[in-house]
Amino acid sequence: MAKDEIVSSLDIGTTKICAVVSAVSEEGEVEVLGYGSRPASGGLRKGVIIHLDNTVGAIEDAVEQAEKMSGQRIKNVITSVGGIYLKGMPSDGHRSISRGNKEITKADINAVIEAACELSIPLDQEIFYISPQEYIVDGHDGVKEPPLGLIGENLGIRVMLFMGAITSMQNIIKSINSAGLRVRSTVPGPLASSLAVLAEDEINSGVALVDMGGGTTSIAVFVKGYVIHTCVLGLGGEQVTGDIAVGVRSSPEVAEKLKKEHGRAISAMAQEGEMDVPGLGGRGGHTVSKLVLCEIIQARLEEIFELVRAEIKKTGYEDMLSAGVVLTGGVANTDGLVDLAGNMLRMPVRIGKASGITAAAEGSAVSDPSFSVAAGLLMQSKLRGVPIFGKGGVFEGFRKWWQNFF
Ligand SMILES: Nc1ncnc2c1ncn2[C@@H]1O[C@H](COP(=O)(O)OP(=O)(O)OP(=O)(O)O)[C@@H](O)[C@H]1O
Ligand SMILES: [Mg+2]
Repeated sequence: MAKDEIVSSLDIGTTKICAVVSAVSEEGEVEVLGYGSRPASGGLRKGVIIHLDNTVGAIEDAVEQAEKMSGQRIKNVITSVGGIYLKGMPSDGHRSISRGNKEITKADINAVIEAACELSIPLDQEIFYISPQEYIVDGHDGVKEPPLGLIGENLGIRVMLFMGAITSMQNIIKSINSAGLRVRSTVPGPLASSLAVLAEDEINSGVALVDMGGGTTSIAVFVKGYVIHTCVLGLGGEQVTGDIAVGVRSSPEVAEKLKKEHGRAISAMAQEGEMDVPGLGGRGGHTVSKLVLCEIIQARLEEIFELVRAEIKKTGYEDMLSAGVVLTGGVANTDGLVDLAGNMLRMPVRIGKASGITAAAEGSAVSDPSFSVAAGLLMQSKLRGVPIFGKGGVFEGFRKWWQNFF
């Protein structure tokens, strides 16, 4: 039997940075051997690195924790690109096969993907990941595998191109390198969490994945097996906490604690009674009703779901999402969130936790919704996407991937 490959992932989130070490079998089965998670300590804002040293320190700590637990040394990591600068853009490419035998070759597929990448993007952005969706051979669409050897005259491809701000991606790489690690590949965060929590039948039936993190809410919409839209909103759990801090006159730390202890997404579900709120700057404490806390939470979550609804509507496919919405990310731990989201989005809603992985540790934190991205990164080989970020630019990265494809 082939030896399992040790694969490690690193999710650099706005509120926490987590590292996971796993053994991946040849069949793609993932067994988690260890993990570590550390607060991002102000290193990021809305998913974008703003303080290098804090980020590097948190990466080192999370990695050390994961190494200790797994007994493995982490040298390189698959990491995610998220944050408000992440954009997914659909594109297509075409090529006519003019040779005599009309047999589609590797070079044709190479060329058609390159054609799909030839679109003008802002100077400060770079494509870092290509997600091939379907090939079209002489008008027949829905061909999922590269149609090598097939006879055809016209070859087309539909892809989703993912791009990010060049500088913010360079800061991801720099932080990881400064922590003594190499980046094995970069994967769009919403694709990684989709991979961890969505079932294949949901992806085929139509579904929207909503990853509600600390500083961002990422959306990925799938129709007929393909991702058709992604977007990242700059709102998340930190904004909920910020509203509570203002509303009950407390520090953000106290607000965060009150939110997790007494918070509900729907104020009608609030527990009865008051909670103690310590005063700021040495002032005496006061009490606030749990109902008020939940009203503050509900108002902000409703705003976020309004924006999510608008994004889904923009795709024009809202009526085709038979599998509704799957919520993940740390905010998905809020009591009553499924009910609020169901009321707001008018679709079936469930909470998504990483599935399809086995965890060595009992009650592993890896199944918490806040670990979905890190877990999904370990399964990224199933995506058949093309990670291409690096010094050589789009095409060098692409050729490297292609050489390893078969
Ligand atoms: N039980 C809970 N109730 C309410 N909110 C919670 C709960 N548990 C975690 N959260 C919130 O989840 C958020 C963190 O989620 P997560 O770890 O997915 O974010 P992140 O990956 O660090 O950030 P991002 O993805 O936005 O960059 C925090 O704002 C936290 O308050
Ligand atoms: Mg996150």
